Amino acid sequence: MDQFITKFSLEGKKAVVTGGAKGLCQGIAQALHDAGAEVVLLDVLDLVTETAEEMGSQGAPVHAVKGDLSDEESLAAVYGECLEKLDGHIDILLNGAGIQYRCPAVDFPHDRWQKILDINLSAVFYLSQLAGRTMLEQHYGRIINIASMTSFFGSVLVPAYAASKAGVAQITKALSNEWAGNGITVNAIAPGYMATELTRNMKEVNPEQYKEITGRIPAGRWGEPEDLQGLVVFLASDAAAYVSGAVIPVDGGFMAK
Ligand SMILES: NC(=O)c1ccc[n+]([C@@H]2O[C@H](COP(=O)([O-])OP(=O)(O)OC[C@H]3O[C@@H](n4cnc5c(N)ncnc54)[C@H](O)[C@@H]3O)[C@@H](O)[C@H]2O)c1
Repeated sequence: MDQFITKFSLEGKKAVVTGGAKGLCQGIAQALHDAGAEVVLLDVLDLVTETAEEMGSQGAPVHAVKGDLSDEESLAAVYGECLEKLDGHIDILLNGAGIQYRCPAVDFPHDRWQKILDINLSAVFYLSQLAGRTMLEQHYGRIINIASMTSFFGSVLVPAYAASKAGVAQITKALSNEWAGNGITVNAIAPGYMATELTRNMKEVNPEQYKEITGRIPAGRWGEPEDLQGLVVFLASDAAAYVSGAVIPVDGGFMAK
């Protein structure tokens, strides 16, 4: 039994978590760290330093890198900084940074459309490509993307977000097809409706929709960051060596209803 449990350990592993300063990905980074991984939190917010300091007060080191993933050039530089902190090794890439904007499609501003696609979709591809190069040399890697319920359906008032998250699901499969034979698994977690800042404005902008959604969640509640932790550690671990190309909902049963 002990030997089996060690397959879930992330001791000695090195991880980069984008969007890790707060919200769901802070919880995800915490889980990877609790399981033993050294972690770099990459985020555009100053808060990332404080989050890393708190998280790293015990166990393996936790580093902070502040940077903007919406621009391809700065993304490459920022990724280089992350890799440097990890002495050139990366075992786990968690692509979690994401933004949202709610607006009727007919009025949806093009600059918002572009920014959402840049951060939610293009950055996932560019970072995976950069990390993939190191992982292919190592013949080992775990890429975990944060998808969404809108990877499966279109929702309303979020056309750019839905398009970006459907793209994340497809990138996950496309990269898995190329890399799973080289020891690199590529999977996505599709959180259901989670109680974070990103979704808080739905409660205000569209209270009817908020109420309707809550009523449709079989678990009877919105998810919390902790609800993602078990799956993320599993996917990052050696126990999940044969799981790749999957987009797995963590949604209190929402998708099944
Ligand atoms: N909250 C939900 O209900 C829900 C549901 C499904 C999927 N998701 C996804 O989970 C992920 C985390 O969402 P959250 O709810 O925790 O949101 P959040 O806003 O709390 O966290 C997102 C993080 O991404 C960072 N970020 C944004 N733009 C960035 C950029 N240009 N460069 C670097 N970092 C940037 C933010 O600073 C923030 O720390 C997102 O990908 C989101 O789409 C959330």
